[in-house]
Amino acid sequence: MDPFITADAVTKQFRDGTRALDGLTLTIPRGAIYGLLGPNGAGKTTLIRILATLLRPDGGTVRVAGHDVVRHPAAVRQRIGLAGQFAAVDDHLTGRENIAMIGRLYGLSRREAATRATEIVDRIHLADSADRQVKTYSGGMRRRIDLAASLIGRPQVLFLDEPTTGVDPASRQDLWRLVRDLAAEGTTVLLTTQYLDEADQLADRIAVIDHGRLLTEGTATELKDRTGGSIVEITVPADRADSAVAALRPLDPRYDRKRDGIVLPAPDGPLTLRHALRLLDHYDISPTDVALHRPTLDDVFLTLTRHDPRELAGRPV
Ligand SMILES: Nc1ncnc2c1ncn2[C@@H]1O[C@H](COP(=O)(O)OP(=O)(O)O)[C@@H](O)[C@H]1O
Ligand SMILES: [Mg+2]
Repeated sequence: MDPFITADAVTKQFRDGTRALDGLTLTIPRGAIYGLLGPNGAGKTTLIRILATLLRPDGGTVRVAGHDVVRHPAAVRQRIGLAGQFAAVDDHLTGRENIAMIGRLYGLSRREAATRATEIVDRIHLADSADRQVKTYSGGMRRRIDLAASLIGRPQVLFLDEPTTGVDPASRQDLWRLVRDLAAEGTTVLLTTQYLDEADQLADRIAVIDHGRLLTEGTATELKDRTGGSIVEITVPADRADSAVAALRPLDPRYDRKRDGIVLPAPDGPLTLRHALRLLDHYDISPTDVALHRPTLDDVFLTLTRHDPRELAGRPV
């Protein structure tokens, strides 16, 4: 592995005493799409702001593309692009003008900025709407323009904080394709997301953090394997859900709203399943559906953080 971004024992405490990062250590290989997951308030945005030199860590060492973020922030800035949790675009300018404006901020001449803007709008498949004011854009298009603007300096590293939150499924696919293309060309991408399927499908490696600490790290498959065993999923008629959870208490059940079913860890696979069915039978509850499957990333997340995966969203700070 060729480490391209390293965070070593990073700490950050805000003035009000909030400890946002508490000895976080992470290594991100060159060219990877790296997913950062954690519940609301876990420290994801704080880490991205430190990596992007917008915030100084209190302790620890952070290097991006070979440069220390505290000692050589300018060198880091030259190599990175950042698209924050909210699209930072000017509504009254067109998409193309927004990108060109960032180009000018990067020190390109007017002509260079215009050329680069044209390359980029083609690149992100927005050439058709590039000359409309951004205020007429959908949320997904605004996100793409924001991401496009972060490409103007040809970054080696791209930080994307919840790039697809609130974006329609078609635009999400477009953004995924763009991220994959960039990674294939060698750009290292660090993204946070509140959609576990996004991390599962897009990220080469995933870190789960909570309370500013690393809980686990690896490929999606490694994380699922580490969670161990299987998962039993049981659906019962809605009016029996509470009794079923009570009946299954010895097996550590939880009600999963996303799946609208009861989920149990099944370390013994089919034996756990049989045990569960016996308990339900004892209380005269007939399941309408039963399944035994490998853990999903949602299961991994829940097991590690004890948070409902739907609380994953980082709220604005
Ligand atoms: N500027 C700030 N001042 C005080 N507390 C902050 C500030 N920014 C973030 N926090 C706190 O730090 C913790 C981590 O926040 P953040 O990094 O935004 O989490 P995430 O992006 O994972 O939701 C939270 O408890 C948050 O309230
Ligand atoms: Mg956040």
